[in-house]
Amino acid sequence: MRPLVFATRNRGKLYELRALFDGLDLEVIDLAEVAARLGRELPDTVEDAPTFAGNAAKKAAEVAAATGWPALADDSGLEVDALGGAPGVYSARYAGQHGDDGANNAKLLAALAGVPPEQRTAQFRCALAVADPAGLLRDGVMTAEGVVKGVILDAPRGTGGFGYDPLFFCPELGQTFAEAGIGPKGQLSHRARAFAALFPHLRAYLAIEQ
Ligand code: IMP
Repeated sequence: MRPLVFATRNRGKLYELRALFDGLDLEVIDLAEVAARLGRELPDTVEDAPTFAGNAAKKAAEVAAATGWPALADDSGLEVDALGGAPGVYSARYAGQHGDDGANNAKLLAALAGVPPEQRTAQFRCALAVADPAGLLRDGVMTAEGVVKGVILDAPRGTGGFGYDPLFFCPELGQTFAEAGIGPKGQLSHRARAFAALFPHLRAYLAIEQ
C-alpha cells in the first residue's frame, strides 16, 4: 500500500480520516509516523497565507516535497460577519497564545458586546488540500472547502467539543456544537463537508493512479 501523509499531529483527526479511507489501497500516516520512518522530524509549516485554502495547500505541498509521498492537509477556523470575517485564519491564536480556547472565546464575546442576535451570524470554514510530489495532480494541488453556518451566542452553552464550539449555535441542530457533541456535529460540520467535497475527486484521482 502506498502512503498518504495526513499533515497533522492530531490523533483524533487521523482516526477519522483512516475510517473514511477504508477500502482504498492507501495507508494513511500522520507526521509522527513520518518522523519514525524518516528518522527526522519535519519542520512545522508557517501558516502565513491569507486564506484557509492557501495555508492547507502550503502545508500539503511542503510535506509532499519533504517526504516524496502524497500529502493531505487541513486548515479551519471561524468567520464572524460582524467582525469582517475575523478571527478567520487567526482563529487558533485570536487572543495571542496558540490554542487558548478560553481566552479566544472571551475575546470573541468582548468583540461582539452589544451586537444584537440578528447581526451575530458566523460560519466555520474548513479547507483541505492534497499535494502529490510526482506532480500528477493536474494543478499540482487538489483543494476542497466545507462551511457550516451559525450564530454566536452571548454566553457559552454545553461542555463538549473544542475551540469556539460553546458559543457557536447551529440552527440545523438547534444547539451549540458543544451541546450537540461529536456525533451530530460530525454529520454536518465544516470538516465533514470539506471531506465530502474532496472525496469524489480524490477517489477518481487514486483510481487513475493505481
Ligand atoms: P485547526 O485548523 O485545527 O488548526 O483549527 C484552527 C482553530 O479554529 C482552532 O484552534 C479553533 O479555535 C477553531 N476551530 C476550527 N474548527 C473548529 C470546530 O469545529 N469547533 C470549534 N473551533 C474550531
